[in-house]
Amino acid sequence: MVLELMRLDGMAALVTGGSQGLGLGMALALAEAGADVALVARSEDRLREAATKIEALGRRSVVLPADLGDVEAAVRVVDEAAEALGRLDILVTAAALQLRKPALEVTPTEWDRLVDVNLRSVYFTCQQAARHMLAREQSHDRRIRGKIINVSSLTAAAAWPNVSVYGATKGGVTQLTKALALEWASLGICVNAIGPGTFHTELTDALYSDPERAAKITSRIPLGRPGVAGDLAGATVFLASPASDYITGQVIWVDGGWLLVGTGL
Ligand SMILES: NC(=O)c1ccc[n+]([C@@H]2O[C@H](COP(=O)([O-])OP(=O)(O)OC[C@H]3O[C@@H](n4cnc5c(N)ncnc54)[C@H](OP(=O)(O)O)[C@@H]3O)[C@@H](O)[C@H]2O)c1
Repeated sequence: MVLELMRLDGMAALVTGGSQGLGLGMALALAEAGADVALVARSEDRLREAATKIEALGRRSVVLPADLGDVEAAVRVVDEAAEALGRLDILVTAAALQLRKPALEVTPTEWDRLVDVNLRSVYFTCQQAARHMLAREQSHDRRIRGKIINVSSLTAAAAWPNVSVYGATKGGVTQLTKALALEWASLGICVNAIGPGTFHTELTDALYSDPERAAKITSRIPLGRPGVAGDLAGATVFLASPASDYITGQVIWVDGGWLLVGTGL
């Protein structure tokens, strides 16, 4: 049955940035579909709140506070998640920072911080997760050993003002998704990305707390509203589940039709 293919029972997932916003929405979707979920972010309090929500769905949750700007910590949390949950089937890399600043004012330190958290840590968590997925004994009835879902952004598909570093990191995430998908396809690891449109979260609060700006953004969205975290649930579970076993290297845009619009003239 096709709906059975969407079940994640018995699987274990690691979600970076799973304490709030879109990462939390993705973590809850995975838990609802049956997976146990380990969560990474800096704030331990928020992680514990998120874990309580996952446990309320009847799943196990593990809280792994870490700053993903430190690549050693990024690798360590993957090991800890696999150890605590006994396996690792799914990785979602949703943690990211934003920097809103004209390109002429960006400093090398700011560049390094964003690249470390948004791109470098994504690459090395993917690498470490793949090692765990490959180390596990392969089940005889399924060629696929693991699913990786990265989080891209509209800034990887088009240029936006004042977020040049963020856009560069998301462009990098989109390209590494394709590169890893190609390299790991023969190993049975699918690597895809979700490209969210515009959602009101802490990351975008500077835009949405200005009512005029919020209205202008909303008027640009063909489906007529900003996204909410639950809008990513379907794509997340699909890409994590056996229902997508023949899909790799893709970005699924969950953007209310944003990228459909041309010049508007
Ligand atoms: N909101 C949008 O419109 C939108 C659009 C496109 C793409 N996205 C992407 O969606 C993902 C989630 O964004 P969001 O909007 O949900 O943002 P958010 O509410 O600000 O959440 C960001 C998450 O990342 C964690 N994080 C940030 N820096 C970290 C670090 N150094 N180490 C570990 N964890 C860190 C945060 O927890 P702590 O602060 O506790 O560390 C939090 O869990 C991001 O990849 C973002 O680029 C968002």
